[in-house]
Amino acid sequence: MINIQTLRKEYTKEALDISIVHCSPIIQFKLWFEEALNAEVNETNAMVLSTISSENKPSARVVLLKGFDEAGFSFYTNYESKKGKELAQNPHACLTFFWPELERQVRIEGVIAKVSKKESDDYFAVRPKGSQIGAWASPQSAVIASRDILVQNQEALENKYAHKEVERPEHWGGYVLKPDLIEFWQGRHSRLHDRICYALQENSGWKIERLAP
Ligand SMILES: Cc1cc2nc3c(=O)[nH]c(=O)nc-3n(C[C@H](O)[C@H](O)[C@H](O)COP(=O)(O)O)c2cc1C
Repeated sequence: MINIQTLRKEYTKEALDISIVHCSPIIQFKLWFEEALNAEVNETNAMVLSTISSENKPSARVVLLKGFDEAGFSFYTNYESKKGKELAQNPHACLTFFWPELERQVRIEGVIAKVSKKESDDYFAVRPKGSQIGAWASPQSAVIASRDILVQNQEALENKYAHKEVERPEHWGGYVLKPDLIEFWQGRHSRLHDRICYALQENSGWKIERLAP
């Protein structure tokens, strides 16, 4: 087994400075997201979603970003999952992107709300039928006795919906995180990384500051 302590990488690709970032963190995110797509970062829209339980215990998992604009960053999931239950208790959450090919990280903190039913319906309607059936077949985050249960559910649902459209389950839909803090991290040499942080000020827009790495 390799000695993990010797794993080390110098970050040398790019630099980030307050003088070059956009005054809107959403537009800055768009610039970086497009650069990540162009660099063919694997699963560019994969992000870690961190939530907090009613006992103030954090938990985190990867979900896929499905849209972003001034209103926030959206993703889709099962409202009855562990994350769904935690968000119902405490809407404060955090999203983290890591784009290793560009030596970049983005952290987004804020408050989460469900998207409108229409928005969830619209997105559900454009998903492949197999994914639509999956939303019904899997009681996400529940303990199940075996994989067979999922396969049986799936087969029964495939028969049920063989000749009709799959309607969106009430328990499946989107969330949007409205950000109040967005930090852009660019890896630099000798661990002197660049960190530019946008913090939303009450009534006065985004305050942009450099943080120590
Ligand atoms: C690359 C990747 C993308 C994923 N995308 C989603 C997603 O968009 N929505 C989702 O509910 N789960 C997604 N998952 C699964 C979640 O990480 C997680 O296992 C699931 O949502 C249950 O989480 P919970 O029990 O904490 O609620 C993804 C996992 C990976 C590795």
